[in-house]
Amino acid sequence: MKVTIFGTGYVGLVTGTCLADVGHDVLCVDVDQKKVDNLNVGIIPIYEPGLDSIVKQAVQNGLLNFTTDMDRAVSHGDLQFIAVGTPAGEDGSADLQYVVKVAETIGQRMSEYKVVINKSTVPVGTAEKVSEALSKELAARGENIPFDVVSNPEFLKEGAAINDFMKPDRIIIGTSSEKAEKLLRELYAPFNRNHDRMIFMDVRSAELTKYAANAMLATKISFINEIANLAECLGADIEKVRNGIGSDPRIGYHFIYPGCGYGGSCFPKDVMALINIAKGCNYKAELIESVDRVNQQQKHKLFSYVQKHFNNDIAGKTFAIWGLSFKPNTDDMREAPSRVLIEALWKAGAKVQAYDPVAMDETQRIYGLREDFKLVGTKEAALENADALIICTEWKNFRAPDFDFIKQTLKQPTVIDGRNLYDPERMRDHGFNYYAVGRGLSVQRIDTAQVLEVGAATEAAV
Ligand SMILES: NC(=O)c1ccc[n+]([C@@H]2O[C@H](COP(=O)([O-])OP(=O)(O)OC[C@H]3O[C@@H](n4cnc5c(N)ncnc54)[C@H](O)[C@@H]3O)[C@@H](O)[C@H]2O)c1
Repeated sequence: MKVTIFGTGYVGLVTGTCLADVGHDVLCVDVDQKKVDNLNVGIIPIYEPGLDSIVKQAVQNGLLNFTTDMDRAVSHGDLQFIAVGTPAGEDGSADLQYVVKVAETIGQRMSEYKVVINKSTVPVGTAEKVSEALSKELAARGENIPFDVVSNPEFLKEGAAINDFMKPDRIIIGTSSEKAEKLLRELYAPFNRNHDRMIFMDVRSAELTKYAANAMLATKISFINEIANLAECLGADIEKVRNGIGSDPRIGYHFIYPGCGYGGSCFPKDVMALINIAKGCNYKAELIESVDRVNQQQKHKLFSYVQKHFNNDIAGKTFAIWGLSFKPNTDDMREAPSRVLIEALWKAGAKVQAYDPVAMDETQRIYGLREDFKLVGTKEAALENADALIICTEWKNFRAPDFDFIKQTLKQPTVIDGRNLYDPERMRDHGFNYYAVGRGLSVQRIDTAQVLEVGAATEAAV
């Protein structure tokens, strides 16, 4: 099938590549000339495991092309995907200007029936807005060409995007058009061979499904973080609690890892957008608002441990940071907890020495060159002359480091772990001061007076 994808970011590029991989004829279009030029010479703009080789193969097969030419883009695909960004506007609501622009682009140029498929995460009612924008452009041309607008939200996870797209848990399609349904069944047939993963529903329900899914996942994270903070105050160990509750199949072990907060391009903005969607219909989304508040507080957690350990005497100290991206297997730094920590350390007059397996270029792009910031080539180099090690991202090669080396290299044996990677008992045996989220007290065997002090410090920090 002939497919056009507007937007060649994480979602557009992965969607286009995977569709081309199964044999569809895909044209990816972007307004970013540099991105398109790079893609045309095989330079992939994002780090996503496995993407590189599939892009190259699909380009070689002649099934994946990149362009900035809008005329070519609109005439190419019977199916026109919208996969452009929907960033948070000033009030936190989803900014739909890029989505509407694509609708206008299609309306200005289409000469035959098209299915316009919204893959961007968009508020309920956006399909109607897209239809209106398209119809307006057609009317301006004096044309009355039929089209359908379908909602097909994307659920891929950065870092596992190829596998998620190739073997999706579900493919949600919101449409009331039989013709569009038939075309989408055909498009996605190669991804449904094992069993039918397609779920059809009305457009509005499909649009809300995406926000509901992300809000649910964000809720799980904020929930476990809240319990972790409580565990810390009460002298309990959140990892034991996590095991204890995860064993209940109604709760499960997935996505209840305590840590230093969620980030990325989706959860923070989608949670905010949902809060705004609720406001739009005069509903106060109490739970979702709390999820966001808890997360914002949690992102300050690591800095509060630093403050506590160093008695607020932070100026002039150097901190080693392992992990910068908002999660492993991506170079995405959007809303990453590491940024909140680094900026707080700088504000307090500290220096930062950081290592990340793939996100250092992106970090450099964001912060530029600074005297108080050094990006180093290995995790070991980050430790040199540092006063403490702080872990922000749970990259695999941080899981079993050489603890003796860490201890010898750091100025003080202090590890602040935002991802609970290590066994507190072992860390104590190694002679470390080890701070982990929701289990610090079991590590240090702090007496009641200290428990109260830690509780107060946590409270003050949040
Ligand atoms: N990144 C994820 O993990 C993820 C997962 C599921 C859903 N989503 C949603 O998918 C959408 C896209 O996200 P992303 O992370 O791929 O965004 P992105 O910012 O990485 O990419 C968007 C691309 O769209 C391009 N663009 C903007 N206007 C355009 C236009 N008029 N025509 C053609 N291209 C245009 C931009 O230049 C950019 O390359 C968002 O709504 C996001 O919420 C993202």
